[in-house]
Amino acid sequence: MLKIEHLIKSFGDQPVLKDLNLNIRKGEIYALLGKNGSGKSTTIKILCNLLNADGGSISFKDKPLDHQSKYEIGIAPQEISVYNNLTFKENLEFFGSLYGLSGFKLKSRISELFDIFGLNQHANKKIDQLSGGWKRRINLAVALIHNPDLLILDEPTAGLDIEIRNELWALIGELKKKEISILLTTHLLEEAENLCNRIGILHNGMIQAEGTIEELKKLIPAKKIAMVETPDTEKLIERINQNGWQYRYYNKRLAMLMPQDYSLSEIINHFPDVSLISIAKRDISLEHIYYEVLQKNAEIPI
Ligand SMILES: Nc1ncnc2c1ncn2[C@@H]1O[C@H](COP(=O)(O)OP(=O)(O)OP(=O)(O)O)[C@@H](O)[C@H]1O
Ligand SMILES: [Mg+2]
Repeated sequence: MLKIEHLIKSFGDQPVLKDLNLNIRKGEIYALLGKNGSGKSTTIKILCNLLNADGGSISFKDKPLDHQSKYEIGIAPQEISVYNNLTFKENLEFFGSLYGLSGFKLKSRISELFDIFGLNQHANKKIDQLSGGWKRRINLAVALIHNPDLLILDEPTAGLDIEIRNELWALIGELKKKEISILLTTHLLEEAENLCNRIGILHNGMIQAEGTIEELKKLIPAKKIAMVETPDTEKLIERINQNGWQYRYYNKRLAMLMPQDYSLSEIINHFPDVSLISIAKRDISLEHIYYEVLQKNAEIPI
């Protein structure tokens, strides 16, 4: 559906995208993850022609991305980009007209979006009178006005409370059923894990790891992870190495990567001469994978 190859972009002498390759398949939701400043929004701005790339190519439905493609792509930018002094309805009318919609077609699409997003109650309120949650909703609704085949969402749930976030997740889940392809960026690993088919981690200007959660889990050489606390870290690390296990730090907390799903007593038996204050077993999660990828590719260990 969307294919980005060897994309390069620098700002002055700061390289942001060094060789970005990304492929969004039809009907899938793809989460692009990466630290602040890793280049997610830059990629999106290039996709919607707000920035020029220094190199690389982008194709959409097997043809080079061009002016015509905008009629099939909907974008909800990170900064909410609707008119604050217009109402929901007026915003949808305005953006609909930009895509060539008018008359009955526009009216019925607006009414559909009003139903999907529950906008009726605030239909005639100006955007600047509404809370952040409603602004995010209208940002998303505007992106959908022309019924695009590909939807690009830059941090669609940033700054929202749990309730509204869940509502938007449900909405995005509904879109998935309609076979719309979605590229979204997020800092919420839970969002990527629960909503998306595939995940890509952007770091140092490239996608360093990509795949389904199950595929990405293979990057961690463990069946289970044991978070562990000890007064004698040095000795524990020595024993971990002697056992042929590996260890990591997650958020400054020591974790043992276990080659098997050992019970707590089996774990303790592996370290007969080390005093352990606490052990907590964990399944491998996207957070572990994210740290693994960043750590592996860090210029300075993190
Ligand atoms: N127009 C610009 N001029 C100069 N530098 C820019 C410009 N736009 C972005 N940058 C820089 O490019 C880098 C990537 O920015 P970008 O906004 O793409 O990151 P991001 O991954 O979207 O981050 P965040 O998660 O914070 O939204 C940053 O270092 C940013 O300061
Ligand atoms: Mg961004």
